[in-house]
Amino acid sequence: MTGASNLRINADRLVSRLKELGRVGALPGGGVCRLALTQEDQQGRDLVVSWMRALGLEVIVDDIGNIFGRRAGRQNIEPVMIGSHIDTVATGGLYDGCLGVLAGLEIVETLNEAGLTTDRPIVVAAFTNEEGARFAPDMMGSLVYVGGLAVEEARATQGIDGQTVGDCLERIGYGGTRLEGAPAVHAYLELHIEQGPVLEDEDLQIGVVEGVQGISWQEFTVRGRSSHAGTTPMRLRHDAGLAAAQIAAAVHAIVTEIGGAQVGTVGSFNLHPNLVNVVPETARFTVDLRNTDEQLLQQAERRLAERVIEIAARVGVSVEVRALARFEPVEFDKRLVAAVEAGANRLGMSNRRMPSGAGHDAQMLARICPAAMIFVPSVDGISHNIQELTHPADLENGANLLLATVLETARSGANQEKQ
Ligand code: GLV
Ligand code: MN
Ligand code: MN
Repeated sequence: MTGASNLRINADRLVSRLKELGRVGALPGGGVCRLALTQEDQQGRDLVVSWMRALGLEVIVDDIGNIFGRRAGRQNIEPVMIGSHIDTVATGGLYDGCLGVLAGLEIVETLNEAGLTTDRPIVVAAFTNEEGARFAPDMMGSLVYVGGLAVEEARATQGIDGQTVGDCLERIGYGGTRLEGAPAVHAYLELHIEQGPVLEDEDLQIGVVEGVQGISWQEFTVRGRSSHAGTTPMRLRHDAGLAAAQIAAAVHAIVTEIGGAQVGTVGSFNLHPNLVNVVPETARFTVDLRNTDEQLLQQAERRLAERVIEIAARVGVSVEVRALARFEPVEFDKRLVAAVEAGANRLGMSNRRMPSGAGHDAQMLARICPAAMIFVPSVDGISHNIQELTHPADLENGANLLLATVLETARSGANQEKQ
């Protein structure tokens, strides 16, 4: 493949596809709402599939709705996969996930234009429900793909609106078909925005991602007794809202005490009946705990469980807990990470190694093949927010580094064995 090392992607084309996809489910103030398996997700999928077909990719949809666009290689062997997701949180931006998928398409178009065929096939993947905002767990499509969750169980999952994954998949026409045999992937690469402030703060162009921190999602349901807010003396209340608020405050106190990389968030909080003059009967809220260190993450979970028992007894309520997602920290393939780093240095892009604070499909693919990720800076470190932004020059750098890494990895002689 002479000349391949001089090959560069077309940044305008990448940005224009990001903007076009960003118009699907666009929110009035900017940003997008394309929650998994909604009508907007369907429209986004249809657009991505139409682009895949126009680029000559063979499109396959599996039975959890993952979309794969395959470009044949010189040899019919295990492909290099480039992937991410196009679903968003309800108040999402244009780049989270979409960058990884559309950079994959941009690489395919660049290779098509140059008339280059790689030794290995290239597959561009858009995984179902990475966000987990509507259906838990997050990274659901990639988790099913790698065999970490039975497809029947995933399809039976109820979302925050009571609908199931399976029904929604069928409704939007992405029920797909079961793939034959175990997935065989030579290597997996994902380009993503950092979604945090480190690269911008250090004025760096590229994050070479070494792994993903552990994630623990739990849903708590507190049951008390509703009563009149004016007539019920404080000592005779069973206030579910009070207990929930105290548990939320405990989450903050525990993660602050543990310190370091430990983070904790109460992101969803609902009271019933949620009226000004009624002591809350029930409270339902979520807790998101994350740490790069599995032992410390377990410690945070343990300490929270102890505080919940103590608060429930003091306030006179009962508490149920349901695990929504639990993934241990993941380390990416050392050789592939080093290849990304070497590529960034070769291309003259300033970089540093770093962990990922967010969950990604790459952490699931790492179970079955060498996987690695490339981060590009997020303006003000903001993501999961309609103001999410990455500058075109950074998108271009990331996609060019992805292209270089794909070209290297797609050589059939490449020795990227899993370590
Ligand atoms: C997925 O975006 C997550 O890390 O919550
Ligand atoms: Mn993402
Ligand atoms: Mn996200």
